Amino acid sequence: MLDFKKIIAEKLHEEVPELEVDQFLSLIEIPPDSKMGDYAFPTFSLAKIKRKSPQMIAEEIKESLGDLESFEKIEVVGSYLNFFVDRKALAELMLGQVKEEKEEFGRTNYGENRPVVVEYSSPNIAKPFHIGHIRTTVIGDSLKRIYEFLGYDVTSINHLGDYGTQFGMMIEAYKLWGNREVIESNPIPELVKLYVRINQEAEEKPELLDNSREWFRKLEEKDEEAVALWKWFREVSLDEFQRVYKLLDIEFDSYRGESYYSDLMPAVVQEMEDKGVLVESDGAKIVDLEEYKLPPSIIVKRDGSTIYLTRDITAAKFRKDTYDFYKNIYVVGSQQNLHFQQLVAILDKMGYEWSKDCIHVPFGMVSLEDGTLSTRRGKVLYLEDVLNRAISQVDEILSKREEELGVVMENRKELAEQVGIGAVKFQELFNQRIKDYVFDWEKTLSFEGETGPYVQYTHARINSLLAKGNFQLDNKVNPALLTNEEEIRLLQLLYGFADIIVDAHLKNEPYFITRYIVEAAKTFNKFYNATTILTEEEELTNTRLLLCYGVKNMIKRGLDLLGIQAPEKM
Ligand code: ARG
Repeated sequence: MLDFKKIIAEKLHEEVPELEVDQFLSLIEIPPDSKMGDYAFPTFSLAKIKRKSPQMIAEEIKESLGDLESFEKIEVVGSYLNFFVDRKALAELMLGQVKEEKEEFGRTNYGENRPVVVEYSSPNIAKPFHIGHIRTTVIGDSLKRIYEFLGYDVTSINHLGDYGTQFGMMIEAYKLWGNREVIESNPIPELVKLYVRINQEAEEKPELLDNSREWFRKLEEKDEEAVALWKWFREVSLDEFQRVYKLLDIEFDSYRGESYYSDLMPAVVQEMEDKGVLVESDGAKIVDLEEYKLPPSIIVKRDGSTIYLTRDITAAKFRKDTYDFYKNIYVVGSQQNLHFQQLVAILDKMGYEWSKDCIHVPFGMVSLEDGTLSTRRGKVLYLEDVLNRAISQVDEILSKREEELGVVMENRKELAEQVGIGAVKFQELFNQRIKDYVFDWEKTLSFEGETGPYVQYTHARINSLLAKGNFQLDNKVNPALLTNEEEIRLLQLLYGFADIIVDAHLKNEPYFITRYIVEAAKTFNKFYNATTILTEEEELTNTRLLLCYGVKNMIKRGLDLLGIQAPEKM
């Protein structure tokens, strides 16, 4: 397709062959204000080559470029060359693409089927699935969707925390005080109670810890009773997790958790021995990471048991062998930065050049307005409760609307779910990952401003407009009729959509897309309020409707890449 930026870069390269087209491409900017053009090229970097002032260079290049096809004009402002895309060329290009690509608008094959692993959510068994987990779960799911849309071959993994010495404690506690029926009636909170109790009582009775260690040893040796109990803890926990994933409309290709790697670990430890990566320290086996300016990591504890990091090394190798990944992405909070730095360093030290393809995608913390995470169910706010509350609050809003408007929404229940869950996800994906944020009910569920419901509502509004105008894809249109400010802005947004998806995946930042579709929704609403779309002139109406259709597909796709549904009617 017509690539305006590339046209500029190629022309500039003809003018100044000392720089390659790619170099020009990376120097060309998108000005913050469209009055400064659609693209700008700062000439500073040419001063050395040309031995002239940047302003003079800008003037000279403008002179010799003359009229550039597909561009309306070129202006010099200070040391910048500002390029203005020809509006008609833009409209022709975008309307053509909207018509051709339809619901697939924006799709590219950037990924060329390269395999990518995205790991996210990964909660710990027998521990609450709480509001803190929303971040990894929702960011990870969005990244999975983005990579898929770009044509990568994605495998999503839930690296369940289902192994470790704490399961010895769980078994000991269950044997002492547990009751099967009680646990089955309310698994995670009851298991957490047992875990809390054994930790407390062990302070006075250290023999509980000895017994726990013994149980873990038995588990590692595949003792029947130990394995059966562990399996049961895992099952009942997973049932609860899956209920929440269903609510969130999130799926995984694999639930291979930490336990899966326990059998594969001895071979990896052996390999580390053979490669001379391990050293003895105080009876434990560690890796010295001084050359990476990192603290040493324990791989095998003094009592012979392995740890979280050992399982991650094993899992990374397993993923490379199984998926031959181009990228192996870990969506895990920034508290684990050091852990992942150590993991990558160790893989590098083991001689794996693919260690650089293991990428930690960290994020900040979520807190509640009152600064805590407390709730009626104990010390944590369960994610499931948050989601259900969002749904029921939206349901209330909708039922008020029904009353006010005197209508009945036949799909109200479904709608409340789509909007409630969408709102929570949207708020989650609105900011740069690394920023901490405060979960704010009012803001999240508002139908005004930069929220999920607002964007969903805009999408539904376009949809009903298309129906009202009896939009048909093959109606006759005339791109030259799109001339007002909002129309041009919408065309520009359509033009930039495919690129923003690429950028979002290069930085692993779904919020690029969130912001983009908010802007599209705002611009559309401005357009809707300022312009009569369904006019008396058929060709003009059809042209505007085709633009609306493109914007609708873009917003719908954007929402989908965030994991948010786009109801047709609201
Ligand atoms: N289960 C861990 C936790 O809840 C997160 C696992 C992250 N993934 C990994 N490969 N280490 O903290």
